[in-house]
Amino acid sequence: MRVSLLRAVTKSIYTSTLLWVFVLLFATASVGQESSPANLSNSATVNQRVEELLKKMTLEEKIGQLNQVSAANFLNPPNREELIEKGQIGSFLWSVDPVQLDKYQHLAVEKSRLHIPLLFGYDVIHGFRTVFPVPIAMAASWDPQVLEKAQSFAAREARASGINWTFGPMVDIARDARWGRIVEGAGEDPYLGSAMARAQVRGFQGPQLGTPDHVLATVKHFAGYGAAEGGRDYDSVYLPETSLRNVYLQPFRAAVDAGVGSLMSAYMDLNDVPAGGNHWLLHDVLRTEWGFQGFVVTDALTTNDLIIHGFAKDETDAAYRAVSAGVNVDMASRILAGQLAGLVKNGKITVAQIDDAVRPVLAVKIRMGLFEHPYTDLSKIGSVLSDPAAREHSRIAAQRSMVLLRNENHTLPLSKKVSSIALIGPLANDGIDLDGGWGVDGETPAVTVEAGLRNKLPGVTITSARGGEIRRTIPSRFDDFLPGGKKTPPQTAEEISKEIEEAVSLAKKSEVSVLVLGETANMSGEYASRSTLELPGRQQELLEKIAAVGKPVALVIVSGRPLNISWASAHIPAIVMAWQPGSEAGNAIADILFGDANPGGKLPVSWPRSAGQEPLYYSHNVTQYPESDPTYRSRYWEGPSTPLYPFGFGLSYTTFSISDLRLSKTELKAGDSLEATATVTNTGGIAGDEVVQLYIHQRAGSTSRPIRELKGFERVSLQLGETKTVHFTLGKKELTYWSEARKSWVEEPEEFDVWIGNCSTAALHAAFRVLE
Ligand code: NOJ
Repeated sequence: MRVSLLRAVTKSIYTSTLLWVFVLLFATASVGQESSPANLSNSATVNQRVEELLKKMTLEEKIGQLNQVSAANFLNPPNREELIEKGQIGSFLWSVDPVQLDKYQHLAVEKSRLHIPLLFGYDVIHGFRTVFPVPIAMAASWDPQVLEKAQSFAAREARASGINWTFGPMVDIARDARWGRIVEGAGEDPYLGSAMARAQVRGFQGPQLGTPDHVLATVKHFAGYGAAEGGRDYDSVYLPETSLRNVYLQPFRAAVDAGVGSLMSAYMDLNDVPAGGNHWLLHDVLRTEWGFQGFVVTDALTTNDLIIHGFAKDETDAAYRAVSAGVNVDMASRILAGQLAGLVKNGKITVAQIDDAVRPVLAVKIRMGLFEHPYTDLSKIGSVLSDPAAREHSRIAAQRSMVLLRNENHTLPLSKKVSSIALIGPLANDGIDLDGGWGVDGETPAVTVEAGLRNKLPGVTITSARGGEIRRTIPSRFDDFLPGGKKTPPQTAEEISKEIEEAVSLAKKSEVSVLVLGETANMSGEYASRSTLELPGRQQELLEKIAAVGKPVALVIVSGRPLNISWASAHIPAIVMAWQPGSEAGNAIADILFGDANPGGKLPVSWPRSAGQEPLYYSHNVTQYPESDPTYRSRYWEGPSTPLYPFGFGLSYTTFSISDLRLSKTELKAGDSLEATATVTNTGGIAGDEVVQLYIHQRAGSTSRPIRELKGFERVSLQLGETKTVHFTLGKKELTYWSEARKSWVEEPEEFDVWIGNCSTAALHAAFRVLE
């Protein structure tokens, strides 16, 4: 009863949705819709090969292509090898054992009736053997090229090990630092997020699917996962269409346009319809509007979650709803494998529907060249995984992603002539935590900060003290198989106090203290949400006691999210946000602290003063009492409602001036574009990088528009005294938005503000008008 009612309601929603989808398609077809040569359109030859295969396939073999099973020691069917030979498995996940993968591929290609190769998926999120900075850190580089190159190294290492499919990039917009998975994406902004999404698709897949030494990419989690209520992982998401289309869907669209071959549906309910059974998302938007030709894979066990959510009544219903919504591959639940034949037999699902589900899976395998080159040359693993070029790039990426948040009286860079350093904090000596989450068996533990300082300053006295351990209050359910979990009994309060006192006495004896504080790897990521953003454990006490010693102090924060550093921002002269920097962490941190690299990263998120401000983002609408008016700066009676550090903010060891904002015209017809330029000059003492950012605001329209929206950026390297002109284009793509009032994409004849600067609070201003 409940299910049929739901179906009726859902059907009517889809019917009306479809109507406006068509209106939209024909009225505003090209809006925001860049087409790229990499766009995943299957050639006639690919389609022909798919059809030839389909003709030969039995129903069981077709269903097998939709079945992805675990190759790890959990959730796996016992008779995997037999199922491979029968063609009843299309892909595996969760194994990094090259010998096992190679064996399975040989079975599939040589023993199965139609010789269809397997896909082997894994979460290669920010590196494989070589670990690169976590994704939010890479976004803080504001340097898509450096990210693209990192992901191509990751792809090469994974592919050499037999993995041909990664579950990345994760492009979920996250505007709430309590949500643990903020670490996996590019932060709060759709424009920056889209640039990072495109870069990662290119990095993983190469210019096109099938490029040697690359892998199939998966854009995830479709869609809205980052807006979990209260920042609680997996919680329901309620997003109006305006937020979905203008913000949350943008990076997915960018990835689809860049040719991503697969897309993962999200776990949670989106507006009461689970994303893994959401026909509007997976069919209407993804297929009809965007023309996506890759395949949709569910998140792990998501088909079963349709039952847990109270959406599907049982496994048969879950399979029916998943396939009807547009799912192709069922990750790990094996529900499609168990239920589809019955659904076809009783006429609820047609063979034509099964064929539609299988087509993109086969097409991707063909396009990847797997039929011609299914195997991995295992003799190459050693050389690929030890290529020093990957480590070098990891160090560069880590340097470029760090953000200098505070630097009073030029505390940094520290002098290499320093006689002694007290290195303090629970994260100073932990390679696993400096790597960040999503560790892979066999990844290299990061160079610790202590090792990095010793490498740089062999003659300097460096003493270190942990100052008390930190650990999650409630362990992660992933602690057993992901890095970061601690098995030993927790320290007692006395033991921690003793370690804090040891740290204080080291600080007293040393010329300078370097504090490395923050979060362990398992404190962010999946199942790692927080209700506060305080420094975990007794790190705040440690920080205050070290500051009270009265010697120079530099604070390095290692974490996957912004934390409450309001006290530090007023009392500690130098603060560097290092994120979780990866394999070369310690070396890169030492490079920044001692000036061998000049920080140029910028925040990809608004840094909150406390958890109570979340969700927090710069691109909100202008309100009745604008915060730009000093009288109204505090919506909270305890303090400001503005961020501690704004989106786009980051300091350097040099200074820059940005001036001379010019527009090529101040009036333009809808559909035309103008050029905005500004000059940026390095006015400080050394070479450095500035990220020049362009923001716009539409002053009136069919709906209220955000106070500012990022619409261009460029990271520029400048020698001392050097000047460059930065060019941005503003046209239909940048000026169009989804109007909730008009239910369509619109470019409206209105006045616009433009700002160019080095942060979302940029003051350099101009204005233009779009004519009727
Ligand atoms: C669950 C996570 O949500 C997803 O991001 C990941 O790719 C899959 N598990 C596979 O490990």
